[in-house]
Amino acid sequence: MIWTFPTCYPLRRMVPTHDTLKIQIVPMEREYVREVAQIERVCFTSHWPESAFMNELTNRSARYVVAVRGGRVIGFAGMWVIMDEAHVTTIGVLPEHRRRKIGERLLVRLIEIARSLGARRATLEVRKSNTAALRLYEKYAFTGAAIRRGYYTDTGEDAIVMWVNDLWSPEFEAAFYARRSALPSESE
Ligand SMILES: CC(C)(COP(=O)(O)OP(=O)(O)OC[C@H]1O[C@@H](n2cnc3c(N)ncnc32)[C@H](O)[C@@H]1OP(=O)(O)O)[C@@H](O)C(=O)NCCC(=O)NCCS
Repeated sequence: MIWTFPTCYPLRRMVPTHDTLKIQIVPMEREYVREVAQIERVCFTSHWPESAFMNELTNRSARYVVAVRGGRVIGFAGMWVIMDEAHVTTIGVLPEHRRRKIGERLLVRLIEIARSLGARRATLEVRKSNTAALRLYEKYAFTGAAIRRGYYTDTGEDAIVMWVNDLWSPEFEAAFYARRSALPSESE
C-alpha cells in the first residue's frame, strides 16, 4: 500500500513541533550539569562553575531540579533544606523560554520537595531590581523581611530577604494548591 498525506491536512499537525514538546520537571542528574552551568551563565552576572553544581549532587542538604524539553535543559532551580528550613539558592530559565510558567513550575516543585522533607519555612535572597523574580516569589507568598545592604558583590546591589513563614498553614496551602492547579502539567 502506498501512503499519501491528504493535501488539505497541514503538515505541521503531523509531526511534533517545537511548541508541542513536553516539558518535564525532573531531578538534576549528572548528565544535566553541563547544560545547567551554561544556562546559569546566561541568567546571572556572577557565576557558579560546573564543579559547584557537580558538588551539589552529593550535598545531602541540596535538591536541584531541571526543566527538560525535547531532551534539552531549559531551566533549573535549587535549594538547601536544613532542619525545618528551605533556602532557595537559585532559579533560572533560558531567556527564550521565559513567561511560559517554567520558572513557576520549578519553584512549585521545590516547594513540594521542601514540604516532603519536612521544611516548615522557606527563604531566599533576591536583587532589589529583579522584578520578574520578585513577582514570582510574591505569587507564592514569599514576603520581604529584611534588606541585606550591598549583598551582591558584582554590583553592590542590595538583596531583599524573603520568607514564607509557614509552608503548612491553611492559607499557604489553599493559595499554593490553587496556583499549582492553574499551571500547565506536562506541555505548554
Ligand atoms: C525569574 C525567572 C526564573 C522567571 O521564570 P519564568 O519562567 O519566565 O517565569 P514564569 O513564566 O513561570 O512566571 C511566573 C510568574 O512570575 C512573575 N513574572 C515572571 N516574569 C516576569 C516579568 N518579566 N515581569 C513581571 N512578572 C514576572 C509573574 O508573577 C508570573 O506569573 P503570571 O504569568 O501569572 O504573571 C526568569 O525571569 C529568570 O530566569 N530570570 C533570570 C534569573 C533570575 O533572576 N533568577 C532569580 C534569582 S533570585
